[in-house]
Amino acid sequence: MPTDAQPHLPSKIIIDTDPGQDDAVAILLALASPDEIEVLGITTVAGNVGLKQNTKNALKVVELSGKTKTPVYAGCDRPIRRTPVTAEHVHGQSGLDGPDLPDPSIMTRDMHGVDFLIKTLMQEPAKTVTICALGPLTNIAMALVREPAIASRIRQIVLMGGGYFEGGNITPAAEFNIYVDPEAADIVVNCAAPVTMIPLDVTHQALATRQRLAAIKGLGNRTGDAIHAMLTFSERFDLEKYNWNGAPLHDPCVIAYLLQPDMFTGRRINVEIEVASDLTRGMSVADFWGVTDRPANVTFLRTIDSERFFTLLTERIARLP
Ligand code: RIB
Ligand code: CA
Repeated sequence: MPTDAQPHLPSKIIIDTDPGQDDAVAILLALASPDEIEVLGITTVAGNVGLKQNTKNALKVVELSGKTKTPVYAGCDRPIRRTPVTAEHVHGQSGLDGPDLPDPSIMTRDMHGVDFLIKTLMQEPAKTVTICALGPLTNIAMALVREPAIASRIRQIVLMGGGYFEGGNITPAAEFNIYVDPEAADIVVNCAAPVTMIPLDVTHQALATRQRLAAIKGLGNRTGDAIHAMLTFSERFDLEKYNWNGAPLHDPCVIAYLLQPDMFTGRRINVEIEVASDLTRGMSVADFWGVTDRPANVTFLRTIDSERFFTLLTERIARLP
């Protein structure tokens, strides 16, 4: 091994999230991977449930992980223009129904999530911080509007959102994260930072089957037990809707992409967001077949090796308490 080899440094990330059981699993996967990922902070955004509740959920998840020094910042409590839309019908009234997690003893930091995004991106060396977006894109869009200079400093934005071959989930045309704040999504997919989209087309391949959930439960640790309780609660809506042998596990795909990108395939294409129509509000119009001359602005992922994904997830959750 050459002595001057640069030591492998973990990727620095900010997780923007609306926990949500699947968000929680994504946060835990990131916190379980300190050799590859350094979580600089978690910013919360109105989405699955209201901001106050999902921020409390984020604190609970950080405490569950044992990585209690991970800072949490509350962000925007509503979309840029739209009336808030939430998803208690999927995630339960608390947004994290399933496990009985104790009220958090840790607190949020005093800074607004948007200010934390800007401060961090302006202070850290350019092109070293990745933004992992697991909810509506309000915080990230507001940061880009507040401080345009961050766009060229962001290493990449990896977001769970959108859908093309799979259509939508909150409406026939739109996926929830994009639907809630389509104006924010429009700003993000057209910003100067590299954007990778992990759409329903991918996450609908990552099914948390009985066997896969049993493997997590079989770890016998508190985190595996909590995740099992979370996913066996949130799966009921999707199992009834899709009648598949497992519910799609959306947000952890973002973290898995950072850990093992070759688990995925995708292509650089143009994606635009519908903001004018009521019928197709929030639709991610993906020019996957290159039928327009619109410039490519997004790496749009298309497949995942779901067996590798759940093997990675289970192995990493085993590392937590
Ligand atoms: O459509 C799935 C996305 O919406 C996930 O991020 C889930 O947590 C919800 O926010
Ligand atoms: Ca989410």
